[in-house]
Formats: sequence, structure tokens, C-alpha cells
Amino acid sequence: MDQAIELHKATPGSQWWRSGVIYQIYPRSFADFDGDGIGDLRGIERRLETLSSLGIDAVWLSPFFKSPQKDAGYDVADYTEVDPLFGTLDDFDALLAKAHSFGIKVMIDLVPNHTSDQHAWFQRALAAAPGTSEREFYHFKDGLGENGELPPNNWVSMFGGSAWTRLVEENGTPGQWYLHLFDSSQPDLNWSNAQVQQEFEKILTFWLDRGVDGFRVDQPHAMAKALGLPDHPYVEEAGAGFIEGRETPPMWFQDEVHPIFRRWREILNSYEGVRAMCGETYVYPLSLMAKWVRPDEFNQTFNFRFLDAGWDPKKLFDAINESFEAFDGVGAPATWVLNNHDVIRHASRFGGHYGRATASDGVGPSDTQPDNELGLAIAKGATLFMLALPGASYLYQGEELGLPEHTTLENAYRQDPTFFRTSGTRVGRDGARVPLPWEPEGASNGFSDSGKSWLPQPESYKALARSLQEADENSTLSFYKNALNLRKQFALGEGSFAWLPGHTGPGSLGYENLGIRVIYNFGKDPIDLGSAKVLISSQPLIGGQLEINQCAWIKP
Ligand code: GLC
Repeated sequence: MDQAIELHKATPGSQWWRSGVIYQIYPRSFADFDGDGIGDLRGIERRLETLSSLGIDAVWLSPFFKSPQKDAGYDVADYTEVDPLFGTLDDFDALLAKAHSFGIKVMIDLVPNHTSDQHAWFQRALAAAPGTSEREFYHFKDGLGENGELPPNNWVSMFGGSAWTRLVEENGTPGQWYLHLFDSSQPDLNWSNAQVQQEFEKILTFWLDRGVDGFRVDQPHAMAKALGLPDHPYVEEAGAGFIEGRETPPMWFQDEVHPIFRRWREILNSYEGVRAMCGETYVYPLSLMAKWVRPDEFNQTFNFRFLDAGWDPKKLFDAINESFEAFDGVGAPATWVLNNHDVIRHASRFGGHYGRATASDGVGPSDTQPDNELGLAIAKGATLFMLALPGASYLYQGEELGLPEHTTLENAYRQDPTFFRTSGTRVGRDGARVPLPWEPEGASNGFSDSGKSWLPQPESYKALARSLQEADENSTLSFYKNALNLRKQFALGEGSFAWLPGHTGPGSLGYENLGIRVIYNFGKDPIDLGSAKVLISSQPLIGGQLEINQCAWIKP
């Protein structure tokens, strides 16, 4: 093979967030301790040891704060209280201490774009008159039309329908409108208000004082809105979103937001130890995203370009090139992710054709069903391909068990606001959020001792229970453990990157990281690995041949 050309240089001795594997815990579906069918902090604490044996470096906990749970906790009513559903602050402290005792860092989810409509700030705003400083915490506006009966602009919600809801005043007459880019129970905060900024600095400090290692920041690209809230210039084509290459709509990635993150980074840096924040930024192209990870802003952002590439060699090739170019340009690590609680699980996503790559619309019983066997084979290859890429990698609970999406969930169980706001046209994200199977016993496969489970598991989850996979060296779980072990052993997270000549698509993609070669076969013809030593492969290899949809790490 010819000499590979290096695109990214190794960063030996990197801090945890640069090169670590960060595992997303979705608390309501991880493990239930108190038996109410909803996962909780004590459930997580009890199962931490198992997680530690997986070989991850950090966990990110989705929101467990006080919330009416209209958007599964991404509607926060009090940022410094634990919702009784999940436990208490003491439970959190115990969980944090236990995680630290295993050497696992803990990031928590900060949701600054919006609060719950039950938050004291919003309730206070409702009780105050239009034009008051209380209302200035949010975006309240008079409506258009003769009697203010039309929404103030044409923005639509990410979950469907208008992004505006009109208030009914105490005397029953219609009042002002308030903005919500998500559900009507999630009013958007007004980030041009210095008081809002100060309140969040207090929230950051509260959790940093408790010892958290960092934050995953929800929807940071939505926080600043263009002055005057002008219309979305091409709402008919883009809906709530944007189209890359076109004018940036007034609700997405406005420049005014950067000083806020600089201030947050200063706060993080003022603490002992290494604290970090990762932005859930949906900003394209990545050359623009690079601004968000300049040395004094976010430590890193999710790389949705990689997730959005589906599993298409051309798109992946471009995504990886673009990532190194953009992130290295500002000294930030590239990050990699294939799953989270908002997208169809990759074991199902890669076993079907679900259009929009981010797939947050979900798959329902009346949609074409995925081929989960094919999906899992590709997913394991994809994960192996990802885990040797230098930079931080994010995993989502359950992917290490090869869990498929629950694609036949009955509508009666659905909770995602997307389902309700689109009258069921988009079934939404519940199928990716089903409670984990721990042991193949009881009605919820060990998720809860009571057998209860807020969403029912599909039949297939029993055979995928963790205890069965722990005991099976050929299981998906053992495969993940082996891969994570090797990643650590060869320090691949801190490694280098160079495409392997002859493996730049469309038949195969291959790269080298610190002397380890990683090849994924996208083509029909097997790839002969010759005399190379195979460190790990996504499927057992026969005769040193890498078949279609297989990936291997080899040492030449
Ligand atoms: C983020 C979360 C998602 C939530 C949305 C609104 O995208 O990941 O679950 O619904 O923000 O907070």
C-alpha cells in the first residue's frame, strides 16, 4: 500500500474531553430503582459498575431536573432541583461521587434556549402586564392583524405547527403571543436580556460547585434571535429549519450568542480540574461551526455531519475531511456520533431507508419496517469505523447491546410532542427511548424490579438483555468492550488520521491512526487483508477476507 497522507496529527496526553468516549445516559430509560416504571438516579448509581466495565470515560446525563416532562425533561421548571421522578439532590451527589470513584466524568444537560411554561420566570411573566421586565425574560409580542389575531411572524415549531401561542388573559380575552421553537410548553428565553444571562451563570456555578465535570448544552444555536424577529425568508421550503448555503434564518446560529459562551467558558476554566462543555450545535457548514469551538468557547460540539452522512461512503468521506479541516483549524477535537435519544437507533436506521438522515421523525408500525439483522451488521461496522477516529466519540445507552428501534410501538404509549403536534404524521422519537433490558426476566427485563416500564419493550429486547450478553463473548456487548479496550490500549482517541490510498470510496473507506489501519468494505467484492494482523472485526472474517458491510482494525 502506498504511503498514507496525514490529515490530522496526534495529540498525545489529551484531556479527557478531547479523546474520551462519552456515554449518554437517558435517565428515564436506564434503570428504575423505585419501581415506578421510570428510570432514576439511584437506578443509575446501582448500575454504574457495569458501565465502568464497558470502558467509557465519561457519561452525559440527559435532564433529570424538575419538569412537567412535556418533552421528557427538556422542559425544565427548576434548573437546580432534581425532579422527584428521578430522586433528590442527595441521590445526584451520591451518583457523582460513585462515578468519580470509578474514574468516570459526569456531564449534565443544560437547556438554555427555553424553559418549561411551569418555570417561575414564565409564571411570573404571565402574571405581569405586557411590556414589563418580567415579560422581557421571554419573547412576548402583540399579534398581527386587526385584533392581534395573527402570530407575530411566520416561524414554525421544530415539533410541528406554529412557533407562537396566544395567551388568554385572566379575564378570558386573548392577549399577547409567546415564542416557542419547540413545544408550546417550552417558551423561548430572551437571551438579549442581561438578567437571563446572569441567571444562567448562577445555574452553571451551582452545578460546578457540586462537582460536575461539564455540560452538554441543548440547542445553543437557537438561543440568539435576530433583532425584531423578522420572518423566516423561506419557511415554505425549510419549515422550522434552514437550508445549507442559503441565507441563515433569524432563529438559527446568530453571532450575538458567542459572548455568552465565552463567559461560560471563563466560568468553567475558573474551576479546579478540567471542566468542559459540548454544544448540541446544528450548524452547517462545519467551517461555520468552527467558530463555536474557538479556544475560548465550547470545548467541542456534536458532529451531526457524521451522523447525517447516513452510511454513505461519499458523504462520510466528505464529512470526515470537512471535520478535520474545520476543527483542527481552531485547535478543537473532532467529535463523532451515530446515536442519541433524538434519532432512530443505528441498528434499525441502517436496515432501512428513512429519508432524513437525522431521522427524528421515527418509524411507526405502518411504515416500512427495517431489516434489523442487516442494520445491526452495518451498525457494528459503522461503530468500529467510528471508534478508531481520533477525537471524542459519543455513544448512546443501549447501542452497546445492539438494540433496535421500537418500530411497532402502539400509539397509545407515545409521549413525544412531535407525535401530537403533527397529528401522528411524524411518530417521533419514543422508539429510540425504550427502557433498557438488563436481565431476561420479568415484565421489563430487569429495568425495574416491579416489572413496570414507561414504554413497553419490543419482544426482541429479552434476548438482548445485558446479562446474557455479558456471558457471551460473541455478543454485541463483548464486541463494544473489545473495541473500547483496544481504542484505549492504542490511544486512538489521541491519535492521527490519514486516508489509506485505494480506500477513499466508493467501494471502501480506510484510514490509518497511529499505525492501526481501519477498513470498511462498502462494495460487493471482498477485500483481501493479506497477512495483516486483525485486531478486531465487526463480523468474524473468513480466510482474511473483509466482506461487504464489514469493518476491521488491522496491523500491517
Ligand atoms: C434537543 C434535545 C431534544 C429536545 C430539544 C428541545 O434537540 O436533544 O430531545 O426535544 O432539544 O429541548
